Amino acid sequence: MGCPGAGKGTQSALLLKKFPFKHISTGDVLRKEIASKSELGLQISQIINSGNLVPDELMIAMLEKIVESSEQGIIFDGFPRTVKQAEALDEMLNRFHKEISAVIMIDLPEEEVVDRIVSRRQCKACGAIVRVNSKNPATHCEACGGELFSRQDDTAEKAKHRLNVYYQDTLPVKQFYSNTGKYFVVNGNQTPEQVFGDIQKIIEAVK
Ligand code: AP5
Ligand code: MG
Repeated sequence: MGCPGAGKGTQSALLLKKFPFKHISTGDVLRKEIASKSELGLQISQIINSGNLVPDELMIAMLEKIVESSEQGIIFDGFPRTVKQAEALDEMLNRFHKEISAVIMIDLPEEEVVDRIVSRRQCKACGAIVRVNSKNPATHCEACGGELFSRQDDTAEKAKHRLNVYYQDTLPVKQFYSNTGKYFVVNGNQTPEQVFGDIQKIIEAVK
């Protein structure tokens, strides 16, 4: 869990290098649907590009198929994002005899959010997440040479709106998990490697 730009995608990529997890970024799943120009993609493109949340029922139905069929541990990146989604996740995990090991909140001060969002680029080919600035004005991916692009919802104005949506709809999810004994907070305002070190300790402890 974490606000826009907290580092959910960055940390998921680091986790995948070390652990045999399946990574589900609901944002990536939805963006792929839009890119495929399917009917569903057309319906949701306006919602995502304006920074609002896709309806709970749709997200829950999409996730259910993945949870049922996965035999590996799953990193959910960006889900659950509402209390209703958290309740539905509990219900489906019970039904499939699975459980949550840890809910990890990456905490980032509000003043860092817009800068991280507007300077983010993603590789069209491999999906790598990159931060560009005057020291790193990259246009192509260092790892695979693919072209870097900026997400349509990554303007300063939309980032502020996404942050408000996060406060209103997603922060209550923190309450939902905070007394379960499985809720952990890490400081997201450190280098990616330091954040990863903290997350790794949590994963090792709950394994
Ligand atoms: P989603 O794609 O999940 O966007 P988000 O939650 O706003 O989060 P971001 O992907 O922007 O940030 P991140 O935390 O992954 O940060 P990143 O690692 O990239 O969702 C998009 C939209 O899809 C939603 O608005 C909604 O419409 C829809 N949606 C998705 N899930 C949904 C759901 N469950 N229900 C309903 N609707 C849903 O890092 C950001 C930048 O910071 C990068 O440039 C990175 O290089 C840099 N960075 C990362 N870590 C560090 C660090 N430690 N130090 C310095 N820079 C860093
Ligand atoms: Mg992300």
